[in-house]
Amino acid sequence: MDQNQLKELVGREAVKFIEGGMIVGLGTGSTVKYMIDALGERVKNEGLSIVGVATSDRSAKQAESLGIEVKQLDDVDHIDLTIDGADEISDDFQGIKGGGAAHLWEKIVAINSTKNIWIVDESKMVHTLGKFPLPLEVIPFGSTHVLEKLDKMGLNPAFRMNGDEHVLTDSKNYVIDLHMGKIENPAKLAETLNGIVGVVEHGLFLNVVNEVIVGRQDGPEVLHA
Ligand code: A5P
Repeated sequence: MDQNQLKELVGREAVKFIEGGMIVGLGTGSTVKYMIDALGERVKNEGLSIVGVATSDRSAKQAESLGIEVKQLDDVDHIDLTIDGADEISDDFQGIKGGGAAHLWEKIVAINSTKNIWIVDESKMVHTLGKFPLPLEVIPFGSTHVLEKLDKMGLNPAFRMNGDEHVLTDSKNYVIDLHMGKIENPAKLAETLNGIVGVVEHGLFLNVVNEVIVGRQDGPEVLHA
């Protein structure tokens, strides 16, 4: 199986965890896209009744196009289960997210969910976080000064660009990626980043996930965090 087939495998596996009546957080990304497709099939074929809360405009659009009811986070009082992708997951189940620039909404949805499941192909499982550049969502106003500060701290920051244009999040903020190679102490780094004015949110998801479904060549493997 190639990487896309592994993504589809875990996307399809994940929807087995969804039961009628649930409020379900819908993550973002190429793996989640398969999950939303499979959820749409269950809604259509089985008449499964659920409400989705999306973590990005694109996931909301995809879900609605498949006949899945989507509500805003502020219009529901809880989320039973959120299924999302990840860019890296370490041995101790800490994660980096935000490769698709959606980590702010993803984190807000995740911390308001009773249960979080991440779905990844096996290439995302790593010993130590940091090979994947760590995304930050930053307020555009004054962001060059934030970049400079991060640079002086030795965190190797770079604005995420699309040609000459800044990549914009759904909240119309910029993204800075930290090319650190290795993150020895994620909790300490998270604390440091939380203290920088202008950084809205970072892509370190620490102690968030409950279960990970890993797409392996011999089938999906469910790991409990
Ligand atoms: C979106 O910003 C991300 O957090 C995604 O969940 C993550 O990048 C995984 O995406 P893929 O499934 O496309 O690898």
